[in-house]
Amino acid sequence: MDKKVVVFSQLNREILTQLEQKYEVAVVDPRQGDVNQQILKLVENADGMIGAGRLLNETNLHTAERLKVISSVSVGYDNYDLNYLNSKKIWLCNTPHVLTETTADLAFTLILSAARRVPELDRWTKGGQWKRTVATAQFGQDIHAKTLGIIGLGNIGAALAKRGHYGFGMNILYHNRHEKPESAQVFNAQYCTLPELLKKSDFIVVAVDLNTDSKALIGKDEFALMQPHAVFVNIARGSVVDENALVQALKTEQIFAAGLDVYASEPLQESELFDLSNVVTLPHIGSATAETRKKMAQLAYDNLVSVLDGTLPEATVNPLFSHN
Ligand code: DGY
Repeated sequence: MDKKVVVFSQLNREILTQLEQKYEVAVVDPRQGDVNQQILKLVENADGMIGAGRLLNETNLHTAERLKVISSVSVGYDNYDLNYLNSKKIWLCNTPHVLTETTADLAFTLILSAARRVPELDRWTKGGQWKRTVATAQFGQDIHAKTLGIIGLGNIGAALAKRGHYGFGMNILYHNRHEKPESAQVFNAQYCTLPELLKKSDFIVVAVDLNTDSKALIGKDEFALMQPHAVFVNIARGSVVDENALVQALKTEQIFAAGLDVYASEPLQESELFDLSNVVTLPHIGSATAETRKKMAQLAYDNLVSVLDGTLPEATVNPLFSHN
């Protein structure tokens, strides 16, 4: 075992065993003290890293002398400093496709839960408050045959459009960097400018990558364009939305409800959102099913092994230099 791999977050047990059979493996353990200090020490003589959910950049990687690959168990790669990795010729791999349907399921879960007030009415029932039928003030919103506006028609956005169109007979609008005529055909989806989409949609789902263009894409002005019965869902990244503006829009009932899986700062420990009954808050579980997390870990493992074996990985974020 001449190669060393650092595991920087929890990893599927079977995949960890596969790694241990092939490489010398060191696992970062938050119970053993400062994680960044551990990373700095462990990457010194590491060839590869695998994991998710940690910011990796010059600060905690500068000791790495022969690091060739970081294999992320995620499709999103906003946690990694791509410029730094490129400058050091470190491959960054990710796990697209295997989580698409699962994450679209979760987006729909949020649409349904927020529109039909599922967590709120669940608490009400369990709290023994069901003494007579629900009052008008507790009614939800219909989902079927409404207008679903999708911001970001990538893989997950398209999987969501499919559910909306075929499952719920919804009218699909989308906003994307580029128009996608092929999707427009399949789901009868109509391209809109962002303001148009915000004004016309009953349900608005954010499914974009986080990058300089999408940071704080949805703020006070954008919430002001939404309809009072609109349900806003974010399954992308928290920083795409101005969270204070969202809290205000929910508090003042400028919109009907929100369903959130992601936040500007995670894990979310304290937030004004927790005091609001018209928001469903989930702990970033878009891809968190046993089957999908296993597939993601397997793909991340395969990517890592490919790079360390000198072949092209299945999914790479920065194929910017020739492999050697
Ligand atoms: C992803 O894969 O990017 C999901 O958001 C989980 O982090």
